[in-house]
Amino acid sequence: MKTVLVTGGTDGIGKGMVLSYLAKGYHVFAVGTSENKGNALIEEAEKLGSGKVTFLKANLSLVEENRRVAKIVSEQVETLDALVLCAASLKAQPSYIETKEEIEFTFALYYLSRYILCYELKEMLEKAENPIIINVAAPGMKGPVYWDDLQMKENYDGQKAQFHGSRLNDLLGVWFCEKDLSKKIKYILFNPMAARTSGAKKMAGESGFMKVMMNFYYKFMGKDVDEIVDIINSDIEKTVKTGLSAYKLDQQVDLSMDTFELSNAEKLNRYTENLLN
Ligand SMILES: NC(=O)c1ccc[n+]([C@@H]2O[C@H](COP(=O)([O-])OP(=O)(O)OC[C@H]3O[C@@H](n4cnc5c(N)ncnc54)[C@H](OP(=O)(O)O)[C@@H]3O)[C@@H](O)[C@H]2O)c1
Repeated sequence: MKTVLVTGGTDGIGKGMVLSYLAKGYHVFAVGTSENKGNALIEEAEKLGSGKVTFLKANLSLVEENRRVAKIVSEQVETLDALVLCAASLKAQPSYIETKEEIEFTFALYYLSRYILCYELKEMLEKAENPIIINVAAPGMKGPVYWDDLQMKENYDGQKAQFHGSRLNDLLGVWFCEKDLSKKIKYILFNPMAARTSGAKKMAGESGFMKVMMNFYYKFMGKDVDEIVDIINSDIEKTVKTGLSAYKLDQQVDLSMDTFELSNAEKLNRYTENLLN
């Protein structure tokens, strides 16, 4: 039985991916913070009647929780066929918030969690026949990296922190593949653009102009989770080479964009290693 770990597997795109893997008969570890959503997922899996789901309740904004999840998975199975990274809190934080480990929240959940899981689970992935990492973020979008203030402690802006987190994930993908000597793992950065999820609704805020605009955009330009999942699965089929690829929906993103600059990827990796040590 193939095994997959999906972070943010209890809602939105992550949940869609979980259900698609269950339909194929896989064993899926789904991570989220809400016990209610976890139980609802288990019930849905039972109705589906194929595959097996293991819900792991964990707050992935904490380094220690990411390590705990990686440990649980490695104790239960030997091989990991896919790692799907979807955990995020799309609602922009109104002000700078630190986790109890003194790391900025969006940086911790959106970027650092993904970094830890990619590296902690790499060996297990390499044992699979065709391993894959799918990092669902927003590749293909331009913008700076705030090198002097990577966690935006000085000049915090909740929305900018989300966009910034995505660019950090672009660089994570670049460096992970650069250093992946086994050259066995396909690493796909995927941008769903506008997916009609509960997270996206929270992103629009409670009221005001932004909410009206976002509702309009998502209504006419957005896609349902099922459509997004089909596109991700067809992108995976299209990707024949191992190493890094990036997609905005079904359109390949040019990896020569500045946001994938190798020297920046190395610089970010150095910063992250220091932080974790
Ligand atoms: N939706 C879009 O239009 C859009 C556009 C561009 C990029 N994206 C990217 O696509 C990915 C998925 O987005 P989505 O719209 O599917 O999100 P979503 O519907 O809000 O789902 C987020 C998932 O992450 C989990 N999660 C949140 N905080 C967590 C934490 N601290 N620890 C562990 N799990 C946590 C949630 O579970 P709990 O509620 O149980 O914690 C839920 O399962 C994100 O990376 C997002 O940046 C989405």
